[in-house]
Amino acid sequence: MTLARTSAETGPGTPAPVAPIPNLVAIASGKGGVGKTWLSIGLATAFARQRQRALLFDGDLGLANVDVQLGLTPERDLGGVLQGRYAMPDAATPVADAGFAVIAGRSGSGSLAALDPQRLGRLAGELAQTATGYDRVLLDLGAGIERTVRFLAARARTCLVVTNDEPTALTDAYAFIKLLAMSRPGADLRVVVNMAASKSEGERTYGTLRKACESFLKISPPLAGIVRRDPHAREAIRSQVPLLVRHPNAPAAQDIEAIAQALLSPPG
Ligand SMILES: Nc1ncnc2c1ncn2[C@@H]1O[C@H](COP(=O)(O)OP(=O)(O)OP(=O)(O)O)[C@@H](O)[C@H]1O
Ligand SMILES: [Mg+2]
Repeated sequence: MTLARTSAETGPGTPAPVAPIPNLVAIASGKGGVGKTWLSIGLATAFARQRQRALLFDGDLGLANVDVQLGLTPERDLGGVLQGRYAMPDAATPVADAGFAVIAGRSGSGSLAALDPQRLGRLAGELAQTATGYDRVLLDLGAGIERTVRFLAARARTCLVVTNDEPTALTDAYAFIKLLAMSRPGADLRVVVNMAASKSEGERTYGTLRKACESFLKISPPLAGIVRRDPHAREAIRSQVPLLVRHPNAPAAQDIEAIAQALLSPPG
């Protein structure tokens, strides 16, 4: 596999890096459909079960769907915040039974996806402010590696890069890691292998990505965890109930709990 050949681009109009938000965890991937939103919901539920005040922010500004996976019809969303109708903290919608809150994006709104750098900077400032009201904030990012995604990811203290064992997912995860490491040397980047056939398959997938990072980028992003492929995942999404609420003992639910636990543990 030729992971290193992915072309890097930093792109014009990228706002200057600013200090990361200390309690913000971003979920990114590069490739779409690897389970970012589903994992974000799982982690938010796991944090809430650990008595953390948790917020899930739908940062997929173009194709928001946290609310869809949760079956929410929020009265307030990011669109209203951007229109200045209410402040960001007031846009949070509680998720019944799950114990966390959501700031919903707005699906299909191209204008949100194409925010200019200045508005994006203001949005990130409001996110930093909003985050002070919570113990943990999760940022579900859109697919791809374009400017908005990279800018939002760079605001997070920790960035989880999700992949599966498909070559395209690995290539895109590598591209994402490369760009973030370039714009924020020393960033806390960690890998999640999702939809793994087994723990050992997941380890192998992680090894492939780590080797490419070590060879070509001279960094070694640690493994945040492996989440096994689990039919309960699809079933929970279909019923619009978080997996950890619906099937707390399912294999994937336990894998997510372990990742959340590690994120909550102090480093070292
Ligand atoms: N561990 C898993 N086991 C089985 N199915 C899974 C698992 N993780 C995710 N899925 C399935 O993958 C699908 C895609 O998940 P999700 O929408 O969260 O991906 P995404 O990365 O957020 O996509 P996008 O890039 O479009 O935002 C879900 O419908 C879910 O059924
Ligand atoms: Mg998603």
